[in-house]
Amino acid sequence: MKLTATLALAATLGLCAPALAQDYPNKPVTMLIPFAAGGPTDVIARLLGQVMSADLGQQVLVENATGAGGTLASGRLAQAAPDGYTVLLHHMGIATSASLYRNLPYDPQTAFGYVGQVTTVPMLIVSRPDYPANTFAELLTAIRAKPEETLLANAGPGAVSHLCGMLFMQAVGVQLTTVPYPGTGPAMTDTMGGQVDLLCDQTTGATSAVQTGAVKAFATATAERIKVLPDVPTAKEQGLDGFEIGVWHGLYVPKGTPAPIVERLEASLQKALKDETVVRRFAELGTEPVSTKDATPASLEAKYKSEIEFWRPLIEKAGEYAN
Ligand code: MLT
Repeated sequence: MKLTATLALAATLGLCAPALAQDYPNKPVTMLIPFAAGGPTDVIARLLGQVMSADLGQQVLVENATGAGGTLASGRLAQAAPDGYTVLLHHMGIATSASLYRNLPYDPQTAFGYVGQVTTVPMLIVSRPDYPANTFAELLTAIRAKPEETLLANAGPGAVSHLCGMLFMQAVGVQLTTVPYPGTGPAMTDTMGGQVDLLCDQTTGATSAVQTGAVKAFATATAERIKVLPDVPTAKEQGLDGFEIGVWHGLYVPKGTPAPIVERLEASLQKALKDETVVRRFAELGTEPVSTKDATPASLEAKYKSEIEFWRPLIEKAGEYAN
């Protein structure tokens, strides 16, 4: 048998996996993210990517694979070679999409391998800086008076800004006009510029815009006030129930990625989550790194699977499907 044929056979049988893993990584790693540059997922990925690049000795290149509410990036990961050179940083939308999308190009139960959970992030509702309301009560009066004329930005079905907006509208009892973007990075730019009225975003993307007055913050979608934005009351303390949502992120590989490669990525993720610059920047952006125990494959797998089950009945009840 020729050498190439022997190698091909060995690869098919998985015999090369230990050698590949030992050598890993020997070229750049692509970190897919499902949303546009400048948004929360992008910010988190680039901060982690820098430390992971140094740790792995190879560039971790962040690629904004936007489209279809994040499912395009998840589909890209599902089809990638399970060799550790393509990874995906995604938020809880990867779990809600399992029910929200009826025709996914992958099987959400079997497509992915798990590296670890990454962060948890709170959300809040903000408006363009010249929106004619200064209190939450005034905001509710204004949107109830002109629901169709009120433009609520989001990053499309499957995005957490979409989910957060839906919860907000449900809690208030209004149907606003929604405007989809490829991520909340560009949605926030347009909110600051006055092209849209409202946006529900994660603190990672919203904190500095609120602190500098580039947008107005009305209410957090949290049980307690957010540490970095202590002056913004929760919706609940302002009399609005049913508007609570917390976002979590995870790092994924294609199913079948050899265990030694997953372990190398897990160690690198753990290191990045403890890095001084990452910890400081996350804190400034109200972004919580997960514990060492949760930055593990077992913890992410359990979280992913339980969140699919948690969201399924809620999405089915809402009857909101993306395709
Ligand atoms: C982003 O990174 O742009 C956001 O996470 C999108 C979203 O709202 O889900």
